[in-house]
Amino acid sequence: MKHFDISESSQRERIQTVIYDGAEGASMAVANEIRDIIKERQKSGKNAVLGLATGSTPVRLYRELIRMHRDEGLSFANVITFNLDEYYGLSGDHPESYRRFMQDQLFDHVDIPEANTHVPDGLVAREEVFASCSAYEEAINAAGGIDIQILGIGRTGHIGFNEPGSGPDSRTRLVTLDSLTRRDAARDFLGEQNVPRHAITMGVGTILDAKKVFLLAWGEAKAEVIAQAVEETPTDIIPASFLQSHANCVFNVDRSAASQLTRVLHPWLVGPVEWSAPMTRKAVQWLARKVNKPLLKLVDEDYSENGMGDLLTEKGSSYDLNINLFNITQHTITGWPGGKPGADDSHRPERATPHPKRSLILSPEPLDDVFCLGGTMHRLANQGHEVTIAYQTSGNLAVPDTEVRRAIELIIELGEERQADTEAKFARTVEKHLDAKGQFGADTAEVRHLKGLIRRSEARSSARLLGLDISHLSFLDLPFYENGRYRRFSMTAEDVSIMKALLEKIQPHQIFATGLGHDPLSVPAISFEVLREALKQCEGSDWLKECNIWLYRGLGTEWEAHEIDMAVPLSPDELKNKIQGIYQHQTQRSQSPSSSQKGPSDAWNLAEQVNRNTAEIYDALGLAEYEAIEGFKLWNA
Ligand code: GLP
Repeated sequence: MKHFDISESSQRERIQTVIYDGAEGASMAVANEIRDIIKERQKSGKNAVLGLATGSTPVRLYRELIRMHRDEGLSFANVITFNLDEYYGLSGDHPESYRRFMQDQLFDHVDIPEANTHVPDGLVAREEVFASCSAYEEAINAAGGIDIQILGIGRTGHIGFNEPGSGPDSRTRLVTLDSLTRRDAARDFLGEQNVPRHAITMGVGTILDAKKVFLLAWGEAKAEVIAQAVEETPTDIIPASFLQSHANCVFNVDRSAASQLTRVLHPWLVGPVEWSAPMTRKAVQWLARKVNKPLLKLVDEDYSENGMGDLLTEKGSSYDLNINLFNITQHTITGWPGGKPGADDSHRPERATPHPKRSLILSPEPLDDVFCLGGTMHRLANQGHEVTIAYQTSGNLAVPDTEVRRAIELIIELGEERQADTEAKFARTVEKHLDAKGQFGADTAEVRHLKGLIRRSEARSSARLLGLDISHLSFLDLPFYENGRYRRFSMTAEDVSIMKALLEKIQPHQIFATGLGHDPLSVPAISFEVLREALKQCEGSDWLKECNIWLYRGLGTEWEAHEIDMAVPLSPDELKNKIQGIYQHQTQRSQSPSSSQKGPSDAWNLAEQVNRNTAEIYDALGLAEYEAIEGFKLWNA
């Protein structure tokens, strides 16, 4: 059942999906709708009823609503809100409760009467949960039903906390959280073990009763689940897919979250496409994987039977196409990520001169560097390049308290032994702050400082193992990160000027960076924005004209083969060495992977798995068989 106009390319989509360049535009569009309904109701003296969501996704939307209140005088006096969910067992003043989140992100900044805001009560006694949930539903009805419901989406396909298994008729109730959902929340709670196991959530049925629904999604981590919800038969495995039956539901997504939709991923399957070089590469590599053949063994029938007959007609024969694609893929492979001196570089990903190159590796937090390009870093250093690793943020939020307590004891003991009063005194202060903050409080500057130092020592140890000159490590401690809590980040001018100063000092010939396409409020995404802004300010500099920017994809993920412009193979020994480098980040052992990744929470295996997998793909395409590969994409800003 479709309730909207579809185009040829979006024919597989069962929910109206609008793709925006970024989260900004998509959030503005929803903010405008909300403003319109608030104003319209004001005219007739009525209330506007909003269903609200938490998580990183709606933060931009809330910032825009706050801006409208501040700059345009938009009043929220006639607004009634109902939040989707709340962790069970958390009081409203717990820093990670959804009530607290809503106060911080919206309610405290607009003129909404406190009594008009509703968030399920996380502390209601077990035997009263059912009554409390029914009362929540009644309150929604009494307010006249929800006019606009805002949704994010979890990587399990959940909306609110309706985890897989939630039916379309489910109502507000107590639920058990999925392990992937708990892992995604682990960073907020400083460890998976602290994440509540249960939550109270509006049901799918409650959500479907809203008059209009907007689901927002950003970043590549959401791409798969968005495609499933939008294009596949509704199933309780992906509760968001039940939104297909809603008559007035729109998904507003950014390019990254849209990347797995058929019209983006395999556009040739839903209509004619312009066979540009990148499109041809994407399609032919897809075809080879689909029919399970190396590139050079594809025949005309493979093309024509898989929706690519027009490509054959346009380009002549499968023979020419295959050879061309084989060569392109072959030319991405290099053991010389800084260029091979004295070699013909016409088909090499990186140019031969100058040699050596000043290479700048940007790591949003310590560990991203070795995890994603440990092998490449090692090669660059070995091949005589001048390698600087700049750790953009301190990464202190990811250090468990237990680790800092170990360091404190060490410092105090050493301080007493050596009568080094100042250090021991500092360590005692940190200890006091830790005791005072309790399990979930934010860290003070002193605690963060010590935690940051611990991560520095791990980064040094890792870099040393990879053969890098550790006097070339640069710890930027970008200020945007230093607020003691995740999901509260915003880029500042100071961040940009720190990055700009570094760029101007090094004047790199090549930069390795990540964060493009990540959830916009994540550490890698903001770190990338800082780089982008700093580069803008360097526009016109001679060094920048000569500088290549290589993107690595991020923790636990890798570019698709057709996106890779430089594939750096690792020998079995290099892979082992890289894993040893990762092991040096001991405080991260118990941490969950970042939200941009899937799979086991043991980051150690993930790096190895990802690099081996890329090598297997190259092998399957008919290229040489390597142990492991790290992939990079050239960024054309
Ligand atoms: C939690 C919330 C959902 C939210 C999801 C995604 O599970 N209960 O309402 O959509 O997280 O969070 P984020 O927007 O941070 O990706």
